[in-house]
This record gives sequence, structure tokens and C-alpha cells, in this order.
Amino acid sequence: MQISTTANPTPVDDARLAEILANPGFGTYFTDHMLTVEWTPDAGWHAARIEPYGPLTLDPATAVLHYAQETFEGMKAYRHADGSVWTFRPEQNAARMVRSSQRLAFPELPVDDFVECVDALVRTDRRWVPDSEGEKSLYLRPFMFASETFLGVRPAQHVTFMVIASPAGAYFKGGIKPVNLWLSETFTRAGRGGMGAAKTGGNYAASLAAQREAIEQGCDQVVFLDDQEFRYIEELGGMNLFFVHADGSIVTPETGTILEGITRASIIELAGKLGHAVEERKFSLDEWRQGVASGQITEIFACGTAAVVTPVGELRSPHGVTPAPASTELTMRIREALVGMQFGRAEDTFGWMHRVC
Ligand SMILES: Cc1ncc(COP(=O)(O)O)c(C=O)c1O
Repeated sequence: MQISTTANPTPVDDARLAEILANPGFGTYFTDHMLTVEWTPDAGWHAARIEPYGPLTLDPATAVLHYAQETFEGMKAYRHADGSVWTFRPEQNAARMVRSSQRLAFPELPVDDFVECVDALVRTDRRWVPDSEGEKSLYLRPFMFASETFLGVRPAQHVTFMVIASPAGAYFKGGIKPVNLWLSETFTRAGRGGMGAAKTGGNYAASLAAQREAIEQGCDQVVFLDDQEFRYIEELGGMNLFFVHADGSIVTPETGTILEGITRASIIELAGKLGHAVEERKFSLDEWRQGVASGQITEIFACGTAAVVTPVGELRSPHGVTPAPASTELTMRIREALVGMQFGRAEDTFGWMHRVC
């Protein structure tokens, strides 16, 4: 893929950039450039370009605004101690975007092109990748949307793929602490045959009423149950779940209606290598409650690109509170193994890291 570059004539100056990178927060500041590629049935993917970051001009009849044909990814670039910049399993994000695209009736962006686009933007804006101190990183947001001006329910004939980037601070300020969860007994996130496995904005829109409930209850995230029986654990609004048992075995809810997290897939491999049997299967709410009460479940953790791995605290619902399991030992070991690899402090024994520049 040929990518042209138009440099931003007024990039953020060094003093302001240093100020931003000292305290980037999350999703607030954006780098000097953005990448765009367009697709039409006749020309395929074309007009790949890096340009100064800025607003889009969209016709009010742009299809995505009405029918939500959209898919996105979330990943990070990490700076190592020697100044080099790396991403973590970017081809997995690319492959997931292909699967999301199939579900959303989009054209597929080839894996190599996806990775090249992300690399090109990171290389252009490499001064925006923070130092690794405090687990800061550059969050990367590739996304695809129906950019055709047309009102009518059918797959768009003009599609736009973009990548933007935003420096991100540590997810946990002042140390890692368990997240308390709210059990949604009213709303589900996804159903059989739906879009649960795709990373598409509609799934997040569907989660917001439940997330608002969680915040009102003083919780950090929502736990969603299956849509058929309201009995089996699916995932959180933005993370996957793992349950560690007293015999060392680990269970994580099976795929189908959940987002197949890249952190989740990596932990399944990593925990296996650490000698833990990992099972992907249905896991019920009763098993959670009884397992914690009996001591059969010793740890529960959530995982995703943003927080990597985080211990789960209480599970709250209108019917009572399930307390946090006693331990976080394996959770923290797995966390450090992954974070160590990402920031180049630990050996990359799986070959998961990808050098960008
Ligand atoms: C609904 C949902 N589940 C799980 C995850 C974790 O996925 P990953 O590990 O690829 O970040 C995310 C993260 O974006 C998510 O939004």
C-alpha cells in the first residue's frame, strides 16, 4: 500500500507536548496526524494518506450516522528503554478487524495493510509515544465506517478506514486496586447471531444504560449475562473475565457472543505455559457465587488492552453482594509477565512484540 504524507505545518511544540505527555489522561489529546484510506467497489482500497489531524466534513446523510455500520480496534504503542517503539500482536487486531468487517458487511482490509497503516502513523508521530515510566503508552484507534452519502439499509459503497492516536496515562493511578462490578439483571450486551463478537460501536451503545446503572451503584464496570437464560457470565462492558480455582485451573467464558480479547487469548497461552489448565466454557453466576463462598474460586481477574489485567473485587447486584476472592497472586504474576513484555522489561518468549521504529 502506497501511503502519501502531508506534514502538519503547525505541530504541537515541544514544551506543550512535554506537558501533555506528563499527564495525558485517556482519550483527550490527539497526535499531529491521522491516517485515512478509502474504499469503493471499483477502486478497492485507495488514496491512503497521512495528513494533519483535524475534523471531518460529513454530509448529514452519511450512512454511518443512521445505520451504525462501523467497526474499530484498540491497541497501544510502547516505548522501550532504548527509545525504540513497539506494538503488541498488531496482526491480531488486524485479523479481528477482518472478522468484524465480515459481520458488518464491510470490505476486508488485508492484515498487512492494516499493520502498515498503523506503523506509518506511529512512525510519523513517534515523538508522541510517552516514556515507559508509569506504564504510559500511545493508544491507537483504527476504525472503519460507512462514508457513503445514502439513506437506505444496505452495505455502504463508500467506506473509510482511519487511524488516530492518543497518548494514554497509567490506567491505575496510585497503584492497582480491584474493580467492583455491577451485575446487569435488566440489559444484555449481545445475543445469539448478533454482533457480540464484533468490535462495533453498536455493542458499546447497547452497554451504556447498564454502565450508567453501574456508576450509580458505585461500581467501575458492568457484568453482562447471556441473553437466553440470564445465567451465564459473558464479559464486562470493556473487558474479559477469568476465574482461578483452588487447584490452579482457570476458567474463562467461551466465545460466540463475547469480544475475543487479544489480552484474553494471550493469557490463555501464557497461563498454559505457567502450568495452569485453562478451560473455555460456559460459566454460571451460581458457580461464581458458590465458588467464592466455598473458597473454590481463589482469584477473579478482568483483562483488556486498557488495564491489561486487573483484580476483580465485589460483585454487586440488587440481590446482594458477592465478596472479592482472597488472593490476587496469580493475577499479579500474569499482569507483570504481560506488562514486562510490552515495555521490554521481560523477554518476549512468544514473539508477540512488533518493532515499529
Ligand atoms: C467488550 C470488550 N471485551 C473485551 C475487551 C478486551 O479486548 P482486548 O484484550 O483485545 O483489548 C475489550 C477491549 O477493548 C472490550 O471492549
